[in-house]
Amino acid sequence: MDAQRGAQNANGRSEDPALYYRVHVFCCVNERPADHPRGCCLAKGSQELRDYMKARAKEHKLRQVRINASGCLDRCELGPTMVIYPEGVWYGYRTKEDVDEILETHVVKGGRVERLMLQPSDKGAPAK
Ligand code: FES
Repeated sequence: MDAQRGAQNANGRSEDPALYYRVHVFCCVNERPADHPRGCCLAKGSQELRDYMKARAKEHKLRQVRINASGCLDRCELGPTMVIYPEGVWYGYRTKEDVDEILETHVVKGGRVERLMLQPSDKGAPAK
């Protein structure tokens, strides 16, 4: 580990460690009361879809890939939402077919599912 320390980038700080996961997916499974004005991903089926994605990733025997459940990602109106790192690409998805397409196109092949991608300008929570 010490051999990895000491290198500095152009900003004068130490280089970041290597990625622990090649792909790290966070799927919001937050729940709110039914009358909450922003709604929530759980009410739109996010838990089942996240569990499905995790199971499918396991079937693919993907290495260095983690499919995590997360709390609210603050884009509730666009949910269910997920964000994939290290790229920071967001998706809004609805079905198992959407999950399959994201998994096979983005996670496995490194592509993008344009029709499901969320842009920073997409309406949701106010920008911070
Ligand atoms: S409840 Fe899922 S983004 Fe807020």
